[in-house]
Amino acid sequence: MLADIVEHLRCPVCHDGLRLGAEGVRCGRGHAFDVARQGYVSLLTGSQAPGTADSPAMVAARADFLAAGHYAPLARALAETVGTVIPPTTERPVVVDAGAGTGYYTAAVLDAVPTATGLAFDISKHAVKRAARAHERVGAFVADVWKPLPVADAVADVVMNVFAPRNGAEFARIMRPGGHLIVVTPAGDHLSPLVRELGLLSVDEAKEHRVAESLRGFAETDRREVRFEMELTREDVALVVGMGPSAWHKDHDHLTHQIRKFPEWRPAIASFRLSVFAHSRAIP
Ligand SMILES: C[S@@+](CC[C@H](N)C(=O)[O-])C[C@H]1O[C@@H](n2cnc3c(N)ncnc32)[C@H](O)[C@@H]1O
Ligand SMILES: [Zn+2]
Repeated sequence: MLADIVEHLRCPVCHDGLRLGAEGVRCGRGHAFDVARQGYVSLLTGSQAPGTADSPAMVAARADFLAAGHYAPLARALAETVGTVIPPTTERPVVVDAGAGTGYYTAAVLDAVPTATGLAFDISKHAVKRAARAHERVGAFVADVWKPLPVADAVADVVMNVFAPRNGAEFARIMRPGGHLIVVTPAGDHLSPLVRELGLLSVDEAKEHRVAESLRGFAETDRREVRFEMELTREDVALVVGMGPSAWHKDHDHLTHQIRKFPEWRPAIASFRLSVFAHSRAIP
């Protein structure tokens, strides 16, 4: 399966096509990238990954929280949306997940579209290791979404971007004419009342403006609010805090101490905005 997926890639050094052979992934000019034991390929070119990669602890917290099913309604909404934007006549749809994390949503989408293959990109190799095992039809790659993507022109039927960095120009380049970009962002009341109680980082009001700014040339064609209540244990609260932006900035020991004082169960709101965009060159 990986061989098919690799054909949608381009060499991050020279932009030539990539092929999977006995010695790993290579371009025609000899740039070579190893397939790791865990089945993923690093396509990073520079020695330095940006400091925004999720740490092993954040990735583990995210994997545990998602495995408990707390965000399953969002995974269903995403899968349903991808199912509706891919025309049924598309033979082998390609879904690119930019900033895929552990591949939880990539896998949900691939389950819903049985003919699709997925390319999961993330800058965190700890996340990508997990994404490589998330689904039999996914290929997982370490890459920086802020750099030119190692993806060939016009191959993606869907680009999805779930709470992750965006690169509008690159998303437009890799998208097939008529393709769609699906962006999920947290809404203002996401994780209330925990955000207030624990003094977590909240979604700022300029967020929506920044999303639009980062996606010049795209037009929003559909938008859906996905909002539901969760019942979280103290352990779940620690996980959701540990996987989110506050894991970067807040005093970890202080937060752990505050969470310990919580009752065993805690209700919390999950609230997301799921937006579908088309690129202007693909809009009739
Ligand atoms: C909040 S997590 C979301 C992951 C996944 N979409 C999910 O919802 O489960 C953000 C992800 O973006 C990744 N990331 C941060 N900066 C990145 C970059 N420049 N290029 C690619 N991925 C990046 C992080 O490593 C992390 O896995
Ligand atoms: Zn090359």
